[in-house]
Amino acid sequence: MASSPSAGPATTPFSPTTPLRVGVIGLGMGSVHLEAYAAMPDVEVVALAGKEEARLAELGAQYGVPHLFPDWQHLVALPDLDAVSIATPNALHHPIAIAALTAGKHVFCEKPIAIDTAHAREMVQAARDHDRVLEVAFNHRRRADVQYAKRYLDEVGIGRVYHARASWKRRAGIPGLRSWFTNKAMAGGGALIDLGPHVLDSLLFLLGEPRVVAVSAVTHGELGRAGYGAMDRSEQMLSDTGAFEVEDLASALFRLDDGSSVAFEISWAGHTVDDEDIAIELLGVDGGVRLFVPRYASDGTLRIFRDVAGAPVTIEPEVHVPGGEHPLVIREFVDAVRGGNWDAHRGDFALHRTAVLDACYRSATEGREIRLEP
Ligand SMILES: NC(=O)c1ccc[n+]([C@@H]2O[C@H](COP(=O)([O-])OP(=O)(O)OC[C@H]3O[C@@H](n4cnc5c(N)ncnc54)[C@H](O)[C@@H]3O)[C@@H](O)[C@H]2O)c1
Repeated sequence: MASSPSAGPATTPFSPTTPLRVGVIGLGMGSVHLEAYAAMPDVEVVALAGKEEARLAELGAQYGVPHLFPDWQHLVALPDLDAVSIATPNALHHPIAIAALTAGKHVFCEKPIAIDTAHAREMVQAARDHDRVLEVAFNHRRRADVQYAKRYLDEVGIGRVYHARASWKRRAGIPGLRSWFTNKAMAGGGALIDLGPHVLDSLLFLLGEPRVVAVSAVTHGELGRAGYGAMDRSEQMLSDTGAFEVEDLASALFRLDDGSSVAFEISWAGHTVDDEDIAIELLGVDGGVRLFVPRYASDGTLRIFRDVAGAPVTIEPEVHVPGGEHPLVIREFVDAVRGGNWDAHRGDFALHRTAVLDACYRSATEGREIRLEP
């Protein structure tokens, strides 16, 4: 499709003295975006939108935001705005991003980029058509241990990786039994679409961006439907769980284009020892890498296995994770917008991740392996 940039405030890279004018939508994770932008001297937060009236006023006053709106439409309609930061329920990512990109604004969007592949594809296409940045919040891959593992793989290596295991498991971590998180239309799914994007993003990043070509998946929603597993213990065993329409566990086998495979498992809840545990394990012909992050641990999360002089050796790199990776990924977004290299930032990575997760849902529903479109 021919590129047809809309009229917008910024069509060229910004001068170092011009602040980037940003609007933030959403007051949950959105407040983390707001704090990150507010700490950047070359950014001005000019608008904030969200439904919670008191919180909106509080954050607006705290950060001196001039325009406060209850709805995203008013914010996106502001003419003098360079970028929009989206931190709303998943189903709203698509309409907001399309409206913002069409109006010539750059977009920073929370994960997942969208609730399905079709919406994600339209967003990526809109970023291209209107020549704007579309960046997605994959903050987990900016963890220092993930970054170190990537450097080790690039500089030292473990030989060809033939199999990987990747998971995020919680014992009781359903984020709101009655909230949008467990509503299929608003969230697009449950644990898999909520936690899966981070695990899949870190995994594909470490593996050097292979393509997933086929998935075979199952999903279960036993515990959520029964009222068990809420992150907020006060919701435990509610007789009315609202409409718990999504899965609390998903398990899948991926086939990758390089012939390797991945065992992938994500769960919000389970009667098990795993309680907020993230694990990525790479098995290579010359060695292995295991990232194990229990409860967002910041030290001792990485181990590397190989044989040295005929004996098995375990390397434990001393990498400290300071935490709070959102400012890093938001800084990268601002730098991308300011730098003008927009072609490298159209949301393609996020599209592939959503296509994989979408295929998992299809596989679970249809009870068969699904091959992804090239
Ligand atoms: N990257 C991460 O680590 C991470 C962590 C948590 C959540 N998230 C993502 O962030 C997004 C938001 O999650 P959350 O936990 O902040 O949810 P939340 O429910 O706490 O916040 C959602 C916000 O969206 C606002 N909103 C809803 N409809 C709106 C509308 N029409 N106009 C304007 N604002 C509207 C609500 O008022 C609310 O402030 C989700 O996509 C989620 O997946 C990402």
